[in-house]
Amino acid sequence: MFPRGRKLLLGVAGGISAYKSCDLLRRLQDEGFIVDVVPTQASLNFVGKATWEALSGRKVITDLWSEVENVPHISMAKENNIIVIAPTTADLLAKLASGRADDLLTNIVLASTAPKILVPAMHPEMWSNAATIQNVKILQDRGFTVITPGEGRMTGSDFGVGRYPETSNIIAEVNKHLPQLADLLGRKILITAGGTREPIDPIRFIGNRSSGKQGFALAVAAASRGAQVHLVTANTDLPNVEGITTTLVETAEQMSAVLELEFPHSDALIMSAAVADAKVASYSEAKIRKESLDRVDLAKNPDILKLLSANKKLNQVIIGFAAETSEDLVMLEESGRTKLASKSLDLIYVNNVSNGAVFGSDFTQGLIIDRSMNVIKVPEISKDTLSDILLDQLVSKLG
Ligand code: C5P
Repeated sequence: MFPRGRKLLLGVAGGISAYKSCDLLRRLQDEGFIVDVVPTQASLNFVGKATWEALSGRKVITDLWSEVENVPHISMAKENNIIVIAPTTADLLAKLASGRADDLLTNIVLASTAPKILVPAMHPEMWSNAATIQNVKILQDRGFTVITPGEGRMTGSDFGVGRYPETSNIIAEVNKHLPQLADLLGRKILITAGGTREPIDPIRFIGNRSSGKQGFALAVAAASRGAQVHLVTANTDLPNVEGITTTLVETAEQMSAVLELEFPHSDALIMSAAVADAKVASYSEAKIRKESLDRVDLAKNPDILKLLSANKKLNQVIIGFAAETSEDLVMLEESGRTKLASKSLDLIYVNNVSNGAVFGSDFTQGLIIDRSMNVIKVPEISKDTLSDILLDQLVSKLG
């Protein structure tokens, strides 16, 4: 099954029912989640790190002091779209309620804005203790979802409320959050990245400086919001992304051919690739000798966006990009408006790429202009953040 791209963080605290989370992890993967497991130190007494790594197929970090250079508590807090902690012990409830952050899991929880589902499991006396009741109330008031434990036999001979709930109940609770997490679920999005190259002879080409970072960032962001993404990439050095169908092309004509095939059954096209406006008029099969290389005749490439938008259906959305070399916002806006109209786009992102800015960088700044000529000024932000802003716009245009 195609992973919906959503990343889920499964925290595991130190209760005997930690072993039940091995099955929960499997069921979450069946649902299409990529799961990162963060066990607390205490929980490792019940289920070891090797088990979590083998089951999740991903590296597991168990303390704050590993891979410090990657700042894992912040990156994991940002990357994961939802956090489930199962089991949650009485001690962890108390820590979370008081906002403590003394291990990897509690740091992640404090740093994350994602929805959080707690699955308490403990002895009935601990669950019904006034301190626990108050901690649960505090956490619910702060927006945590707390699943009421099941009733039945405990580890020993006792009986009562405190059991780890049925896995299906936990999955159902996670799924309740899906529409909010995956606003592009079921959508097919075509995204282009990189810069096309137009060969002159077997050795030389006409190219541009696009790195593909923006297109890849858009693809990852769209996939993590549930979209089925097809990334058409031209001449980038970036590695393929898990769960994203990727087609490699070199020239504008090759890109055009793939898009003509794919666009009719896509909901949206985001054209962030830099497409060469011209190719050489006649490609030379043999290396052109230095002495003859005083001129290269050019021929126009097809304007892919114009071709596609001419046949676009009413419910399809096209977003274009424009790279300009002017710091003058009025000029940028003017050129964005003209391109939006001439290519019949729904939205355009226009940016100033002069002085080496933007191309190859992780940051960007520019203007977003839509058909109603609304203009959003985008200050310098990361390409990841721009991706989410553009996708918010896309979601509202898809309706
Ligand atoms: O006209 P300009 O190249 O500035 O327009 C930029 C937008 O048009 C980008 O989204 C780019 O991918 C697209 N484009 C295209 N076909 C071309 C040239 C640019 O679709 N031949």
